[in-house]
Amino acid sequence: MPSLLERLGVELPVVQAGMGGGISRHELAAAVSEAGGLGTIAVNGAGAIRRELAAARALTGRPLAVNVLLPFARRDWFEAAAEADVVVTFWGEPRRRTGGTWLHQCGSVAEARRARAAGADGVIVQGVEAGGHVRGTTPALQLLAEARQALPREYPVLLAGGIAERDDVREALAAGATAAVAGTRFLLSEESRAHALYKERLLAAGETVLTDLFGAAWPAPHRVVPNAATEHWLSGGVRLLYPLRGTKDERRGLRRGPWLNRLLNHLLAPGARYAPPGLQLRMIRAQRPGSRLLSPAGPTDDAPATLVEAGALYAGETVSRIGEIRPAGQLVQVLTP
Ligand SMILES: Cc1cc2nc3c(=O)[nH]c(=O)nc-3n(C[C@H](O)[C@H](O)[C@H](O)COP(=O)(O)O)c2cc1C
Repeated sequence: MPSLLERLGVELPVVQAGMGGGISRHELAAAVSEAGGLGTIAVNGAGAIRRELAAARALTGRPLAVNVLLPFARRDWFEAAAEADVVVTFWGEPRRRTGGTWLHQCGSVAEARRARAAGADGVIVQGVEAGGHVRGTTPALQLLAEARQALPREYPVLLAGGIAERDDVREALAAGATAAVAGTRFLLSEESRAHALYKERLLAAGETVLTDLFGAAWPAPHRVVPNAATEHWLSGGVRLLYPLRGTKDERRGLRRGPWLNRLLNHLLAPGARYAPPGLQLRMIRAQRPGSRLLSPAGPTDDAPATLVEAGALYAGETVSRIGEIRPAGQLVQVLTP
């Protein structure tokens, strides 16, 4: 039986993770797919999904994925995303929403099982070392081993977290992954729409923090590079990433924001999520490192530069191993075993 990648017509076992809020748009996704990997568009709204997909199709005839965040998605987003070759969902109860190939990104074996039962064509298991919003609570290779044991041998399991070099991909494939999914590595590509100052900060970064600080509209853990906002609110330095003792949150190294910020994030999340785009933009422009409500919006190249200190500099642990920005097509080659 042909594998998932063969059925899709994806040549290489390298997938570029969807990076939300418009960091991965048509330029990046098309460059990755054109190089033989699978590129993923991640934008909000049905209109934006359609526009980005059409622009990517104009650049490549190869398969493309669209990423949809379940806490934010409305029905028309799925209708637009269904035009892609693959729909990747994240963060929420897995449920089939489109007819074509569907992958769900999971943080646990239990979630992977639920996704399969709901009809997912495969799962992406995400380790705790991943960048962006982090569902995983264990290192990626450990979760992969557990998922491989729990799921049928031929069921596609992709691995996200810790992928920055060819050897990482090789190791993932040897451990039974169908393909490797990289976010941070492609964030540091020429085509990614991250703000130039954000890319600069990432190149200089040696550490990351797993926190819930930028939780307005989406109170959930995310991994970021420290900036003025994390320095302002998360006092006490960065803890060991995997301490052996302590609470579940401490074990995975989660640095929680102050209780009042968290309370406000929870109370205001539904309203903030559905606020009109104009109001969201005003809130983002007004955001400062000391603001109690910190939006999950990342500093894209068309966002205010103030977000570099006041916003979330999403990145995975691999950021400390990445020292250069390269064209995305070259990165596909660099990652291919
Ligand atoms: C800047 C950034 C934004 C992200 N946004 C999303 C997103 O919108 N949807 C999603 O499914 N995953 C998102 N992720 C997580 C990725 O899907 C993936 O799990 C992660 O990038 C893997 O870890 P790595 O960044 O260390 O490669 C994001 C990751 C980063 C770095």
